[in-house]
Amino acid sequence: MRDTVALRMPSSRQPWWQRAVLYQVYVRSFADSDGDGVGDLRGVLERLEYLQWLGVDALWLSPITVSPDKDWGYDVADYTDVQPVFGGLEAFDELLAEAERRDLRVVIDLVPNHSSDQHPWFQESRASRDSARRDWYVWRDPRADGSPPNNWRSAFGGGPAWTLDEATGQMYLHSFLPEQPDLNWWNEDVREAMDDVMRFWLDRGVAGFRLDVAHAIVKDSELRDRPPDDETYVRVDLNETFAVQRRWRKLVDAYDRDRVLLGETWVMDLPTLAAFYGSGDDQLHLAFNFPFTFSPLDAHALRQVVEETERLLPAEAWPAWTLSNHDVVRFPTRMCDGDAQKARAALMALLTLRGTPVLYQGDELGMPQADVPAEQTRDMADRDGARTPIPWNGGWQSPWLPLGADVASVAAQRDDPASFLAFCRELLARRRSQPDLLAGAYETLPAPEGVWAYRRGTGTAVALNLSDDAAQIDLDGRHELAAWEGVIADV
Ligand code: GLC
Repeated sequence: MRDTVALRMPSSRQPWWQRAVLYQVYVRSFADSDGDGVGDLRGVLERLEYLQWLGVDALWLSPITVSPDKDWGYDVADYTDVQPVFGGLEAFDELLAEAERRDLRVVIDLVPNHSSDQHPWFQESRASRDSARRDWYVWRDPRADGSPPNNWRSAFGGGPAWTLDEATGQMYLHSFLPEQPDLNWWNEDVREAMDDVMRFWLDRGVAGFRLDVAHAIVKDSELRDRPPDDETYVRVDLNETFAVQRRWRKLVDAYDRDRVLLGETWVMDLPTLAAFYGSGDDQLHLAFNFPFTFSPLDAHALRQVVEETERLLPAEAWPAWTLSNHDVVRFPTRMCDGDAQKARAALMALLTLRGTPVLYQGDELGMPQADVPAEQTRDMADRDGARTPIPWNGGWQSPWLPLGADVASVAAQRDDPASFLAFCRELLARRRSQPDLLAGAYETLPAPEGVWAYRRGTGTAVALNLSDDAAQIDLDGRHELAAWEGVIADV
């Protein structure tokens, strides 16, 4: 009898983050509570009702900590205080309390790879060669001819990853902007300082961290050149990066084994991605699958990424899938040629695979990439088109970025049972109510050319016709699928 119950409810033993759908909130563009044109934390609080209605379980907030915003929050000047324009720590605590009341968890972005050049740590580090914090960042002498110590490049602009500090005559490393100096992860004091940052937020009640640049935190200790044909910008020490992640895993697990580490693991080969999970329960809980994100909407290509991921991940490990985020072109435009029917098919895949799906704000609306006029761009790396404000009801006064995207408002879509939003909400409800979709194993099913079909667990099958032609497939019975149509069936 017991066994039967356990079989029927395999999901009951799952940690919350395996059952959850995460929703990325890009705070500046989500909701503005005070009319200054910049989204803020009270704006998020006021919209928790919407997120609950939609049916997501947890929020990932893009960086909310104090920042001069050279890289919109990803240049942190204080790891333990909240940007005033977002409402400060007080607003954050209010948001946490209200989220908890509504049974929504809050994951925050943590940027351990680099700080802002305005962070007191860097100010002290650059003050002199003998500064007690000199070694918190990566300093080297330039070569005799004044050129940088190695061939590493900055991910932004592609120039050297080194900038000369005139006053002390040395160069410091920055994988991103010169205003984002890389911390020296070989320094135990840096590791301890970041432990303290994590504890600060865990003690406040966050459910975990999305770890920025999780694939490249520890660099080669000898700063050797990267191979000339290597696609990466700097030379990373992956083993030591994993060691740091094991340290963090111990730290968060010491709380209540209920906090999650979700890594921005920007690697394009799946064996390396799988390695971020360690043995399956000693490194990251979740690692973003960028090969999936960047796959074309093609049955063969998607099936391959998913099958290989399933094959490579350690037994205990759990995949994480996403179609969009604040750095990449929104999926309806990138993957679906702006076609709403294709976008529905992509969304159905995202929400029915084994793993934790992460929706980016606006995905649920079918929001395409916006065309931001050159004179209104704010991002140095041209990512504004993915970051325009959520069109609640119009509803923004002079927003920091134009309302660009050509999509019906949240209010209009909420009232329309045929809207993209309604479709997304139905999928989320279906997922929640079906243990197979929450926990069941993935298994590819035979399908005609252009169709991707899989079973989840023992009783659920999904078939997606990712082609321009109608198709037929046998699941519980015969299904006729129109072009780009999908079906979830009980089998
Ligand atoms: C990550 C962030 C991106 C940021 C970069 C540097 O890739 O997602 O927005 O620019 O790190 O911090």
